[in-house]
Amino acid sequence: MASGHRAQFSSRLGFILAAAGSAVGLGNIWGFPTQAASNGGAVFLITYLIMVFVLAYPLLVAELTIGRFGASNPIRSLMSIAPKQKLLASSVGIAGMLGVSGILSFYAIVAGWFFGFLIGPVLSVLGFESAAAWLEGFGTARNIVLMLVFMLLTIFVVRSGVTDGIEKWSSRLMPVLFILFVSMVAYTLLQDGAMEGLKMYLVPDMSHFSPDLMVSAMGQAFFSLSIGVCTMMVYGSYLRKDADIPKTAAQVALLDTGVAFVAGLLILPAMFVAQNNGVEIYSDAGALLDGDTLVFSVLPAMFDTMGGAGLIIGIAFFALMVIAALTSSISMLEVPVSCASEELNKDRKTVVWWIGGAIALFSTLIILNFGSMFGLVISVTTEYMQPILGLIMALIAGWIWKRNQVLEELSQGNPELKDSLFWKIWPTYVRVVCPILMALVFLWPVLK
Ligand code: PFF
Repeated sequence: MASGHRAQFSSRLGFILAAAGSAVGLGNIWGFPTQAASNGGAVFLITYLIMVFVLAYPLLVAELTIGRFGASNPIRSLMSIAPKQKLLASSVGIAGMLGVSGILSFYAIVAGWFFGFLIGPVLSVLGFESAAAWLEGFGTARNIVLMLVFMLLTIFVVRSGVTDGIEKWSSRLMPVLFILFVSMVAYTLLQDGAMEGLKMYLVPDMSHFSPDLMVSAMGQAFFSLSIGVCTMMVYGSYLRKDADIPKTAAQVALLDTGVAFVAGLLILPAMFVAQNNGVEIYSDAGALLDGDTLVFSVLPAMFDTMGGAGLIIGIAFFALMVIAALTSSISMLEVPVSCASEELNKDRKTVVWWIGGAIALFSTLIILNFGSMFGLVISVTTEYMQPILGLIMALIAGWIWKRNQVLEELSQGNPELKDSLFWKIWPTYVRVVCPILMALVFLWPVLK
């Protein structure tokens, strides 16, 4: 709703949990460990850590600051920092909004699968074997129904707005996520076979290092920190003026990276525990099974070999995934919802249904044309749109936005910022170093 006073996160912790909720998602608990597993374990981990702190963190600060300065939806916030280049700024905002809607359209499909694997075992224990089998099979109708259920959950939260929806649910769900997560890691590491996975994860095998690995690690870092598609910008626009953005962004980045790192301590050892329990984890060609097979067949097979405890662990694991996905999907839906409700001056509760419905329709289209569309949408939105839009935002923030306005905005949360090391480095860094580094990472595989 466009009104004089704008919603705000009610506390610093509320903001951190919501932003970390956006960042921590399927990308951390599923994407990162499976990419690490197939890209030389520790080599991928180290490259990823460098990408997060050298590239993604400075851009996270930029996105949050643009949002808070604009105190509006991303399209308008971008226009407010580039008043003379309104067309460029609004195009970037619109592209970000379309990109994030594309991400939500495949994310909801995958989250739906996890939802099926959460409910399936419960139904099976209650004796509804055929319903359970339907939920765990990958049929078209099942995929559509589960995607719709997940979209409804997302709409339900975003409908209630920033404080009563996003902040309230992130603050409830994130602690549950942390508890489930730590208990699962502890349990898995105590199982036979776990140490072999740990070794693969933590001892670098340099033969895997390649330019392509750097591109994958960069993409993973951008996806994981939700950068380039205006989610962090819209959350920044609800951040209180007295919050210290560089510090808050560092806390969010550390939480996110911490969860990705610990997820590696869960998934890689779990694969070898599964192998130890007689489950196949290598394909006939000798390669490690890929992401989907791993999560949807190797892990459930491992839970089955654990008897009664396995049922509880399995439910806990898939509940963890659904919670992680939901705190991310709400941040995605908030972008188009804030743009449409403010720009068209419409009520949030109405807009959320239209936009959620349109995205669900697109997800249905993807499910119906799975082979040709699913991978394509993922690749266009995460491999191209996120880094390229992130780069353009860095260029706008570095070259067009007036330096004294940036300083004034950042100083509101930290009056001493002007003399800090951060301020000596960051403006030039975002202006020059980030774009050059990103261009190098992109061009290296082409030029080599
Ligand atoms: N960061 C989320 C994850 O790691 O799963 C995914 C994501 C959320 C990407 C929000 C982009 C976004 F705007």
